[in-house]
Amino acid sequence: MANRVGLLQEAYQKFMAFSPGDADQVRVFFAPGRVNLIGEHTDYNGGLVFPAALTLGTWVFVRSRQDHHFRFASTSFAATVEVSGENVQYAAKDDFANYPKGVIWAFLQRGIEMSGADMLFAGDLPNRAGLSSSASVELATAVALQAISGSELSMVELVKIGQQAENQFVGVNSGIMDQFAVGMGKAGHAILLDCATLDYTLASIDMPDYHLIMINTNKQRGLADSKYNERYSQCQTAVQELQSVFPGLQFLAEIAPQDWPRADAAIVDPVIKKRARHVVFEHARTKEAANLLRALDLEGFGRLMNESHVSLRDDYEVTGVELDALAKAAWSVPGCIGSRMTGAGFGGCTVSIVRKDDY
Ligand code: GLA
Repeated sequence: MANRVGLLQEAYQKFMAFSPGDADQVRVFFAPGRVNLIGEHTDYNGGLVFPAALTLGTWVFVRSRQDHHFRFASTSFAATVEVSGENVQYAAKDDFANYPKGVIWAFLQRGIEMSGADMLFAGDLPNRAGLSSSASVELATAVALQAISGSELSMVELVKIGQQAENQFVGVNSGIMDQFAVGMGKAGHAILLDCATLDYTLASIDMPDYHLIMINTNKQRGLADSKYNERYSQCQTAVQELQSVFPGLQFLAEIAPQDWPRADAAIVDPVIKKRARHVVFEHARTKEAANLLRALDLEGFGRLMNESHVSLRDDYEVTGVELDALAKAAWSVPGCIGSRMTGAGFGGCTVSIVRKDDY
């Protein structure tokens, strides 16, 4: 916590230098990051995911302006960015500011008027580590804009705005898991979310005998966004091919594991086949994992986490040597009952469940 106080003091000072004026007019909003326990690369395939919000996250300090301009600063980047509300466009050079810009753009698309704002972002989530720092920035921006514009959108609508910013403004075809977990997360709970319908249930993850541990490879995702979009289109290709045997198929997650042999036979390309197989079985694993958690069978839950990692490694091919090394090391530790990569992959973090007695 001491670090957090220091971080917020530094952020406040930086904000007042960036946006001098009355202290009473400064507002501060927070959005968490998330960890996904299981259900990876299933969200944009209409499947189940099982994420939980973290206590780590993003703060945004905000002061309204009246000139329809938006200015962005961050404690992690020296550069500041300014745009006019009349011309909000993606620009690679604007780096982190593209996320809040995308959210502003999505508000404007909905006809919501905003008079402008100065915004400074600060946070304790590692960037590009698979813990959704971008969704956290998006939702922090969305709640801030909601407050300063007086709009009355539901949290689920703000979640959709975050995803729209990511898909249509930043250009990553991500699903809705991250924004949903960040916007709808509740303390002590994971969210079992059906990404085809947005139906969800909260599941207690109160585990008195276990720690949930995240370990960062410190390998940043790098070119991952293009790889992510490549996985997305491979899944689209699989759906198109499978429509001949599963008429009306919309999402890969609609295929039940017992129907896999038919799907297997229908997909020609071995790579597309592997991608589809991961999605079909990961969706089924997520459903089973949530049932096991409900039955307090954590060892069973942990085994499915391990299987998830193996499938992401061999079939979806999004782990890489760093994540594989961490998972393998965790699997060899007696008190660790499950360990897997979390998030998009290609670097970032693993999540593990570890018995307290052994830790
Ligand atoms: C990223 C995306 C999510 C999801 C995960 C993989 O975090 O933003 O929508 O697809 O990868 O499960």
